[in-house]
Amino acid sequence: MLAKIEELLQEVNSMTARNAEELEALRIKYLSKKGAINALMADFRNVPADQKKEVGMKLNELKNLAQERIAALKEMFDNQDNSTEGLDLSRTAYPIDLGTRHPLSIVKNEIIDIFGRMGFSIAEGPEVEDDLHVFTMLNFAADHPARDMQDTFFVESNTEDVTKNIILRTHTSSVQARVMEKTQPPIRVICPGRVYRNEAISYRAHCFFHQIEGLYVDKNVSFTDLKQVLLQFAQEMFGPQTKIRLRPSYFPFTEPSAEMDISCHICGGEGCPFCKYTGWVEILGCGMVDPAVLDACGIDSKIYSGYAFGLGVERITNLKYKVKDLRMFSENDTRFLKEFESAY
Ligand code: DAH
Repeated sequence: MLAKIEELLQEVNSMTARNAEELEALRIKYLSKKGAINALMADFRNVPADQKKEVGMKLNELKNLAQERIAALKEMFDNQDNSTEGLDLSRTAYPIDLGTRHPLSIVKNEIIDIFGRMGFSIAEGPEVEDDLHVFTMLNFAADHPARDMQDTFFVESNTEDVTKNIILRTHTSSVQARVMEKTQPPIRVICPGRVYRNEAISYRAHCFFHQIEGLYVDKNVSFTDLKQVLLQFAQEMFGPQTKIRLRPSYFPFTEPSAEMDISCHICGGEGCPFCKYTGWVEILGCGMVDPAVLDACGIDSKIYSGYAFGLGVERITNLKYKVKDLRMFSENDTRFLKEFESAY
């Protein structure tokens, strides 16, 4: 009897089933009323008294093992649906849901494309910058009040000598300085990038945002060239009906300086809450590169002149897509992001 139990233990231990029917056959074979284990149980009374204990324990072990194995196999079949019935294997697969480009990237790429067609190439610079390239070379003297116009984040602050400060760049104009110190004219670049300012976050301000700087330096570059390039850009970006106007302004690195408005893209210049009923919205700062900046960057201002401009990518995107809250751009809400599909 013991030998028979041993044999069944081995069998049960290695039993497998390919489907529910095979499993049921196993259950019947071992555990049903007329199954192998019950047959042994019935024989148990014939076991000599001195062996009853040992045989009884073995028999119980066998029964428990059979129940466990069958339950485990049953659970496996319950959890998997192997039926291919009704399944059309020739059907085309579901399309993979592609992501969309971020609206700021769409607009940035469109701006790069427009200026690219006008002969501008791309230049980039570091986001963690030294004071030299963000301020000093751009004609902000050490005690220049205009340094306060831009709320700077400091990485390493040097109280003795501010020109040794390491900061997060507050504008992409720093890339102008980087390009000019390495290249002689003709220079025609745009510099897209992220900038940082220590501002309280609200629907209209953020501690980081994106700018695109433009710089053109050559012989005989005039304000007329600047105006024409910016008009061309505005009309390509916002439509051929777009008008521009330049208002005198001040930046330490350009002289003369101006701010450019475009006729309000939303109301067409009629006046609406977006343009505060003026019909105009500001989109960028610009001017002729101050000769002192050219000289500081190693370009002879007696031979060369240049213009520069800097625009905010969020601002252009808000205008183009009527996004009212700047914070949407950095919250990664896919419901917002999925609204933007574009070739760019
Ligand atoms: N850097 C300026 C800012 O962040 C924008 C700007 C104004 C850039 C005039 C220029 C420029 O290149 O000529 O506010």
